[in-house]
Amino acid sequence: MLGLIKFVQRVPGGSFVTYDVEHYGETQPFWIPDGTVMGTEERRNQSMIPPEYVYKTAKEFQWDIYGENVKLQKQIVNAFTVNFREFERQGRGLYIYSGTKGSGKTMLACCLCNEIIERYGISVKFISVPDFVELIKDKREGSREKTDSIYQTRLLVLDDIGAQTGKQEWIDNALFRLVDYRKREFLPTIFTSNSDAEKLKMDDRTVDRIVSISTDVKIPERSIRREKAAESNRMFIQGLLDAEKA
Ligand SMILES: Nc1ncnc2c1ncn2[C@@H]1O[C@H](COP(=O)(O)OP(=O)(O)O)[C@@H](O)[C@H]1O
Ligand SMILES: [Mg+2]
Repeated sequence: MLGLIKFVQRVPGGSFVTYDVEHYGETQPFWIPDGTVMGTEERRNQSMIPPEYVYKTAKEFQWDIYGENVKLQKQIVNAFTVNFREFERQGRGLYIYSGTKGSGKTMLACCLCNEIIERYGISVKFISVPDFVELIKDKREGSREKTDSIYQTRLLVLDDIGAQTGKQEWIDNALFRLVDYRKREFLPTIFTSNSDAEKLKMDDRTVDRIVSISTDVKIPERSIRREKAAESNRMFIQGLLDAEKA
């Protein structure tokens, strides 16, 4: 494990990769021929998982925090990591949803990505639907390849489906093409959403496909983000008061 990738220069036949190593700095560029098996770290770097979740593992996702019975959800999520090959064989993914912001949907999806990268060493990509829409619009060099890699990655997270604004036909079509492709190629996708799949305000054809290739994971309606923020605020104030007393 070399640390974070700082720079990749692609040339025919392979790439020169420069790493940024803690307490050392930038390395000399390493020659990595095409087709070389990628390391976990490199997969992670290429996954586009948001920085706050890059190193989160399934163990860090607290199920007991919701104070509700989440046994079924937990079982489905465990099955997904343990039997991922079977999910792949069926081209099946997950639909993680809850109407409440901060309830842990994105975090859970990222924990699952990390788990899959670790266990199976396959390509995983994360993109939010608004970013996917921007990417499709982007005509700059490299955006086409990025779009292709999202189509073809072995596991894709499409975060916040249904959050795309406006019912513009081209957006609907772009999402249809992506979801349809993943379904036809048996490539699992994890969707996260604020809405029940059946109630997504999208093209019916897309909704049908999402429903047919996903297993639902309902996250309880509780803003864990807000609860954690309130708790750390309380501890901060308590710390100040204790210091004053001392
Ligand atoms: N089950 C959980 N276990 C631990 N932390 C959680 C959990 N759910 C949410 N959090 C915390 O709340 C934050 C917001 O979660 P996030 O996944 O972004 O919410 P959502 O995508 O549902 O809006 C996370 O960064 C994490 O700190
Ligand atoms: Mg989210």
